[in-house]
Order: sequence, then structure tokens, then C-alpha cells
Amino acid sequence: MSQFFFGKTDLVQLTANHSRPFYFYNLDDAVTRARAFMKHGTRVHYAMKANSNARLLQAFAREGLGVDVVSLGEMQKALALGLDPKKIIFSGVGKDREELESALQHRILQINVESFEELQHLEAICQERRAHMDIALRLNIHLEAPTHKNIQTATPESKFGLDQRQLPDVLGWLKASPRRVKLKSLTVHIGSQILDVPVFEKMSVEIGKIYSGVKAQGFSLERLDLGGGLGIDYKTKGEDDLARLEQYMKVLLQSHATGAEIMLEPGRFLVARMGVLLAKVVYVKKTADRQFVILNAGMNNLMRPALYQSYHRIEPLAPREGSENYSIVGPICESTDVFAADRRMNVVERGDWVGIFDAGAYGAVMANTYNESQLPAEWSVLNGAMEVT
Ligand SMILES: Cc1ncc(COP(=O)(O)O)c(C=O)c1O
Repeated sequence: MSQFFFGKTDLVQLTANHSRPFYFYNLDDAVTRARAFMKHGTRVHYAMKANSNARLLQAFAREGLGVDVVSLGEMQKALALGLDPKKIIFSGVGKDREELESALQHRILQINVESFEELQHLEAICQERRAHMDIALRLNIHLEAPTHKNIQTATPESKFGLDQRQLPDVLGWLKASPRRVKLKSLTVHIGSQILDVPVFEKMSVEIGKIYSGVKAQGFSLERLDLGGGLGIDYKTKGEDDLARLEQYMKVLLQSHATGAEIMLEPGRFLVARMGVLLAKVVYVKKTADRQFVILNAGMNNLMRPALYQSYHRIEPLAPREGSENYSIVGPICESTDVFAADRRMNVVERGDWVGIFDAGAYGAVMANTYNESQLPAEWSVLNGAMEVT
């Protein structure tokens, strides 16, 4: 019987009792990465949009991480799991009244405000409720991050953040009369899946200058939130990840002299590598010019390839002799349901299992029931204990 170890788990043994596609998370890997962040002494608010698995969130909370939420649903989930409201920050471009009121009611640490309109709305709600709220202004500093255009968030066209050109007006409004919203922080997030450390340095220098300028105008800023966005090289197994993290932390901590407490909102870097989507070969379909490996998992389980043409390593768990060029696709009735258009892979046959690797971030959270399919189960291991959550 063959074996395929992922961390300490034999995936061949794990799949023996399954027939449907499912995710498996090696939470020990996520915890190791969380510690690598935490050792630098910054506040770390895990961007739970990347993966909101309950067992993962609790493991991170035990390591001292807070969370960055972007919806009422995420905030309620974090609170229901017992996460400390003073370790919750709330980002997002379209927070409605119910979401803002709920953030006030639970006295979370900070709301990251993304527009003048949201700021005025929040102030009005604070007045009605005679409450105060600490806020960060999320600035769009017009910095094009080298990443897929669909995950850039700081270009002039982007919907995210307050356009930096509006900052003087916003500061003037804040100063014009006593406000119940308290400006405690500035924040920036330029995009996701960024491997280029120098662009983070540029970002950090830029926002550092703005931070010092705002402070010089008499605002009692305390914290500088430098967002998330550090990527992983999906073509590798992660040999360089931790070295890249060290470079990233170095530039973020050394490229400005604001004296601010630094906050970070990493998502992908913490959780992408811990996850594998396991899927079974339904057919190997041969046509005149192609061979399709049709899996029972598709874009309904993992949308990233269909959304951003993203690359995932795919490997059979019990490789057979020889290799072929395959189009590896899912069963969904969409032509974009393709995991890899032309991929050299060991020979597979009907009934074989494959692993689609580095699927821990923006995988299960985006899964949907298109074509009336079932959501994939999420199995995980932590300290040797296997659970489904
Ligand atoms: C405001 C904010 N912070 C943090 C993140 C996490 O980004 P990443 O998963 O790339 O670290 C995102 C995701 O794009 C975001 O929008």
C-alpha cells in the first residue's frame, strides 16, 4: 500500500474512508507560521476571510492573534468562538448600519473606515447611541502592487480605502467639532499575493510619512496598521516562505520612524500552505488532441483558478508509472472549471485520488453549491488529533 505524507498525516490512509472531495488542514503548520509572525512583537490580526475554520480560529486565538473581519457574519463567528472583542478589527468597504451598530455594541478594538461617507455614517450612529469608537482610516495610497490585477487594492480605480487626496478634507471635518469617532490609527492594504518585498517597503515609507504628518496636526494616533498581502510562491513547496517573511517584517519595522505600535492583517501567508483539497478522478477522457482528467472537485470547491487563473500544485496520491500532459478539470458546467489547462503529471486512472495543494487560503471560504453540489467537509489535524469542523 502506498503512502503520501502531508505533515505527519498519510493522505492515502485519510482518503480511504471518503468518496466526496474534502479539504484537509495541517493546523500545526498554520500555528508555526503564526508564531513566526508573533515573535516580532507586532499586533497580528488574522484576516479571517482567508479561512474561517473554527478550529483554526481557536488555535490562532490561543497563540495570541486577533482577527480582522469584513462582515457581520465573520464578527459573529469570531465572538461566538469566544474571541476577545478587543482583538477584533473591522475592515470592508460597505459596512452597513447593522454591522456598525454591532461593532459598537460589542466594543471591538477598531473600525477601519474606508470612505468619508462611512465616517459620517459611523459618527451619526455613535451620536445616536452616545457611544465612542476608535477608528483607523484606510488610505488608498495609489501604489500598484505587482500581483494579479483582480487582487490589487490600491490603484486609483480601486473601490477600497479613502483616496489619499481626500485626507485633508476628512481631517478638517474631524477637527471641525468634537467627534465621537476617535482617530487612533491609519491603515493601508495594497493587495494580496505579493511576493515583492521592496513594494512593501515603499508602502511602509509612504504611509509612515503620512502618519507623521497627521500626528503633527495634533491627532493622537497610536497604531499603524500595515494590512496583509504577503504571498507564497505557489510553484514551490514553501522552502523560501519563512525567509521571505523575515525580510518582509524587517522592512515593515525599519522603514519608518513613527514610534507607532504596528498592527498587521495577514491572511494567505498563514494558511495557504496548511490546506490540501483532495479529489477523486471520475474519468480520464481522451479526445483527438487532449486528455482530460475530470475530478469530482471543481470550481465550486476551489474558485481561485477560475477567478484569477491561479496555479496550484496537483499530485496523485499514489503515482503510477509514466507521465502525461493533462487538462485537469472539475465536473461543473462552466468552461472556466479548469484547475490546470496543460499539466505534466504522473499517470492517473479512474478512482485515483489527487491532492490540490496550497489550498488553505481563499479555498473553502469561497466554496459554493453551484449545480446543487454539496459543500466540501473540512478535516484537520492539530497536535496529532484529527477532527472535522
Ligand atoms: C483589508 C485587508 N486586510 C488583509 C487582507 C489579507 O490579505 P492576504 O490574505 O493577502 O494577506 C485582505 C485581503 O485582501 C484585506 O482586504
